[in-house]
Amino acid sequence: MNRIKIAPSILSADFACLAQEIKRIEAAGADMVHIDIMDGHFVPNLTFGPPVIAALRAHTKLEFDVHLMVTNPEAYIEPFAKAGADWITFHAETAPHMHRLVQQIKELGVKAGVALNPGTSLTALDEVLAELDMVLIMSVNPGFGGQKFIEASVDKIIRLKKRIENCGSKAEIQVDGGVNSQTAVLVKKAGATILVAGSAVYQAPDIAQAIDAIRGA
Ligand code: DX5
Ligand code: ZN
Repeated sequence: MNRIKIAPSILSADFACLAQEIKRIEAAGADMVHIDIMDGHFVPNLTFGPPVIAALRAHTKLEFDVHLMVTNPEAYIEPFAKAGADWITFHAETAPHMHRLVQQIKELGVKAGVALNPGTSLTALDEVLAELDMVLIMSVNPGFGGQKFIEASVDKIIRLKKRIENCGSKAEIQVDGGVNSQTAVLVKKAGATILVAGSAVYQAPDIAQAIDAIRGA
């Protein structure tokens, strides 16, 4: 049984002082930093590129969990691996050569994840599930922080957990979007072990308390 890990998303942090914002979540007990990469094509928003991630690498020991919301993810895997990513997750909707991309990520010594939008079926993963370190279930439509959790994600996580067990995969289930201390209870019960939270962490008056509340400590 994997322990519950909390990955605050710096999408909700103060972009004027990202290094301090990451140190704050590290001190507050976060397990990894979730870094949302948006290209203005796959999602209607823009965020960071590899140089920003490389600059942040020296400022924390936390694992970098890079969530690619970009078209042509194959062009960005190596740059983000070199910038210091520990995990790279790309979207199934962007990748006709999903199997090749997973191999490419693993050959770079990085853990590989595939993300599914709320409207994408779990069947998209059938042929790669056994190879994955993580599956990311989007519980909002990607592009922005602070959106409302889509309740149907809970049943999707339950069904994914069964599929993971059936094929003997070691993949962990990550959930991203609208996670707070209330929705966390539902997704953990369903089988998620890596919880991303942006606004619920960074907008909280006490970050450590917010992380503990999501973890269920
Ligand atoms: C949404 C991003 C999320 C976002 C979550 O496209 O992938 O990681 O930061 O933000 P909250 O937790 O506020 O929904
Ligand atoms: Zn994300």
